[in-house]
Amino acid sequence: MNNENNNAHQATVLLVVTGCIAAYKACELVRALQKEGYRVKVCMTPHATEFVVPTTFRALTHEPVAVDLFSAPADPIYHVSLAQETDVCIVAPCTANVLAKLSCGIADDLLTTTLLATTAPLIVAPAMNVNMYEAAATQHNMEVLRSRGVRVIEAESGYLACGDVGKGRLPEIAVLVDAVKNALGDSLSLQGKKVLITAGPTQEYIDPVRYISNHSSGKMGYALAECAAARGAEVHLVSGPVALPCPRGVKRIGVTSAHEMLEVCKEVFNQADIAIFSAAVSDFRPQTQYDTKLKKASNAEALQQIVLEENPDILSYCGHTKKPSQIVVGFAAETNNLIQNAQTKLNTKAADLIVANDVSGGKVFGSDSNQAFLVSPNGVVELPSMSKCELAGKILDACMEIAQK
Ligand code: PMT
Repeated sequence: MNNENNNAHQATVLLVVTGCIAAYKACELVRALQKEGYRVKVCMTPHATEFVVPTTFRALTHEPVAVDLFSAPADPIYHVSLAQETDVCIVAPCTANVLAKLSCGIADDLLTTTLLATTAPLIVAPAMNVNMYEAAATQHNMEVLRSRGVRVIEAESGYLACGDVGKGRLPEIAVLVDAVKNALGDSLSLQGKKVLITAGPTQEYIDPVRYISNHSSGKMGYALAECAAARGAEVHLVSGPVALPCPRGVKRIGVTSAHEMLEVCKEVFNQADIAIFSAAVSDFRPQTQYDTKLKKASNAEALQQIVLEENPDILSYCGHTKKPSQIVVGFAAETNNLIQNAQTKLNTKAADLIVANDVSGGKVFGSDSNQAFLVSPNGVVELPSMSKCELAGKILDACMEIAQK
């Protein structure tokens, strides 16, 4: 037997490798999954065998490697038997072509017939050139798959094999392993917990067409919501206006202003076990909100002097009214004195943990990755730069640690 953690209930992971330069990383993924105690079977597209030979995976898994529908003469219905023995399937790396085939339900080879035949949870990790990744067809295919319950792991940004810089890299192996664990319910550490998450910006209206806001895309908060839901939590996502789809299994409540966000949070927080405030709430709003559009000619004075008043602080409200059993996590978006400002927020807003991120020079907002510090009464933990998805996992791990103390 090839796994390094003997596991009485050994789940079978079907790793599908498609024809992409990142195929070599699938070898590392096999080892990482085996370390978690999973039995790994590999299925490759013929194009993938141009990058890594099947013998490599056969040696790593001690299992036959499936490439062709008719390559197992002893098994007349190979794709069905492969599908049936699979507990979770991960396509990593997944090319644009395979993504499109899966989205359309095409079944013309071993891989696509197997994936149609299996009822196991499916994870896909697209990796490709940045323009291919951002192409409308590819984005649409990802949306279609997501709407069917497929877990689509966002590609990471960085230097790509083709020489371009942008989104399209296969995420870190740890992210892929986490996705497998979550899909198998092996880490339902938040089952029975209610989690409140705020995300995105707020918009504070001046008149019907103008508002004060910021560049928050909601990616950080949505990654937290997705991760908490995957760990079994009942997630209430209070979201400002963003262009992201609601993560599967998450209850989203859309709001516009800080006041609306506070009202919803007050209701949900009462029953919440964990509350994480990642929204970029506007600190101020216009004192007067006009019902009709202000005109340069007739309202010049009002446009030149917009008087602002302070918004309520939602994190601070929840921090100061929380029960001892509740865990409250805030963020600190700073351009200078990051740790010092985060420590001040930890104390003044009565939070259990502050996730401090440096947003100077347009960093973090809208990006897929983040480099953060976890600031708590116990000290400061510096995390390396990682995807927001991975960071979400670290923040939830930190919440579980606080809960155990
Ligand atoms: O959405 P993305 O594009 O993914 O970007 C992520 C992010 C930069 C928005 C996120 O990582 C982040 O830093 N969120 C907090 C942004 C912010 O408003 O930080 P702050 O330092 O101004 O506020 C401190 C904390 O108080 C935050 O938890 C904030 O949600 C909360 N707050 C602030 C003001 C207010 N009126 N009410 C609040 O609850």
